[in-house]
Amino acid sequence: MSGHGTPIPMTSRRASPLRGEAHVPGDKSISHRALILGAMAVGETRISGLLEGEDVLDTAKAMQAFGAEVINHGGGEWSVFGVGVGGFAEPGSVIDCGNSGTGVRLIMGAMATSPITATFTGDASLNKRPMARVTDPLALFGAQAVGREGGRLPMTIVGAAEPVPVRYTVPVPSAQVKSAVLLAGLNAPGKTVVIEREATRDHSERMLAGFGAEITVEDTDEGRVITLTGQPELKPQVIAVPRDPSSAAFPVCAALVTPGSDVLVPGIGLNPTRAGLFYTLQDMGADLTFENPREEGGEPVADLRARYSPDMKGIAVPPERAASMIDEYPVLSVVAAFATGTTMMAGVKELRVKESDRIDAMARGLRANGVTVEEGPDWWSVEGCGADAVPGGGLCESFLDHRIAMSFMVMGMGAQEPVSVDDGSPIATSFPIFEQLMADLGANIGRSNR
Ligand code: S3P
Repeated sequence: MSGHGTPIPMTSRRASPLRGEAHVPGDKSISHRALILGAMAVGETRISGLLEGEDVLDTAKAMQAFGAEVINHGGGEWSVFGVGVGGFAEPGSVIDCGNSGTGVRLIMGAMATSPITATFTGDASLNKRPMARVTDPLALFGAQAVGREGGRLPMTIVGAAEPVPVRYTVPVPSAQVKSAVLLAGLNAPGKTVVIEREATRDHSERMLAGFGAEITVEDTDEGRVITLTGQPELKPQVIAVPRDPSSAAFPVCAALVTPGSDVLVPGIGLNPTRAGLFYTLQDMGADLTFENPREEGGEPVADLRARYSPDMKGIAVPPERAASMIDEYPVLSVVAAFATGTTMMAGVKELRVKESDRIDAMARGLRANGVTVEEGPDWWSVEGCGADAVPGGGLCESFLDHRIAMSFMVMGMGAQEPVSVDDGSPIATSFPIFEQLMADLGANIGRSNR
C-alpha cells in the first residue's frame, strides 16, 4: 500500500532524447476484473501479463480472503481457482484495498448479493472518496452499508440474503459503478439492467461474455442498455492482459515534450473506450502513430510510436471524449503546457473525485512551474508556453495520487528547470517499473528534491 510508508521525494531533470522501446505493464482495469471474475468462476483461470502493482495485489489478497485460491507463478503468470457465483466465504478480517477505488467498488459489488458481511478500508486517499455511488444501487439488490459520514470508508457491507435483480441508470459516467452493479447482478435471480448515458470502459461487459455469462448491450435513445442474466455458471478462462494505455500515456507524452525523442510503446490496448488521449494528442499535432494494429485477447491492440513534437497546438478537448481518457487529463495538461495556445478541458467534474482532486492537484503544480491555469467546477484550461519554453523549477504535491506524481516527472523531462514531487511512492500502485523504464529510455529522475 502507498501512503503509509516513508514519502519518496523525486526530481525529474531535462532528459537527453528519449529513445528505445517502453514495455509498460498490464492493464490495471483488466487485471482487477480478471482476478475478480476468476474468483467467481468454477475452476482455474490462468492470467498472463497481470499488472503486479499494489492496487491489483490488494485485489488478489481480497479474493483469497473471500475464499478463492490465488497463485502467483512469477513473471506475470497467475492462477485463480474460483469458488463460483454465490460461493464467496465471509472474510475473517478487514479487506484493505489500499489506494484502489476500482478494487473496493468492484469487490463490494461482487459480494453484495451473497449472505456474508465484509468490512472495507483503504489508505488516506481512498478513505476520502465517495462510496454512496456504489452502495446506493447495491441497496436496491437488498444489501446494507454502514460507513463513515458522507458514505466514506471504512465501511461494512451486509450482503443480501435474498437478492432481487435491479434496473439502474448510472447517474455519473463511471465504469466502476456500472461494473459493481453488474457483478452484484451475477448472484441475483433474473435480469439485471444497467443503463449508462455515456459509454465508459467496457472491460466488464467483454469479460463477462468471455466467462460465459448471458449479457447483451444495446445502444438506445436512453443510452447503453446492458442486460445481464443472473446466476450463470462462469467458466474459467485463459486471459492475456493487454498493456495499459493509461500507463503508456507517460512514455508517449514524455517523448512528445523531450527534444530529439523517438519512442516505441508496443502492444498497447486500444479499446475505443480507453484511447481518447491518443486521438486528442493527434488533434493537437503530435507526431504519434499506431503501428501494426491487431486484436489480442478480444481487445484491439497496436504499437504506439511517439516522436518529439515541437509544433503542438492547444485545442478544446471534446467533452464527449472525457470518459475515454478520464485518467489521462493530468498528463495531457502537461503536454498542453508545451503546446502553443489554450487547451480547454470541459465536462470533467469526475476528475475532482479520483485518487486526488486532479484539477486542483495539477493546477497547483502547473502554476508552481510557471504555467497559467484557469479552472471551474467541471472544467479547466492550460495556457501553453510553447515547446522548450516551460519554466519548471517547482515542487509539486502528489496528494497520494500516482498519476499526479508521474505527470510532473514527465514535465521535468522537457522543462527548463527541474520539476520535483514531494512523494512518488504512489507510483507503485499502477506502474511499479516507471522509474526504471523511463531511465532506460534516457530520462533523468532522481530520488530527492534537489
Ligand atoms: C476504472 C474506472 C474509472 C477510472 C479508474 C478505473 C475502472 O473510474 O478512473 O482508474 O477500472 O473501472 P470511474 O468509474 O470512477 O470513472
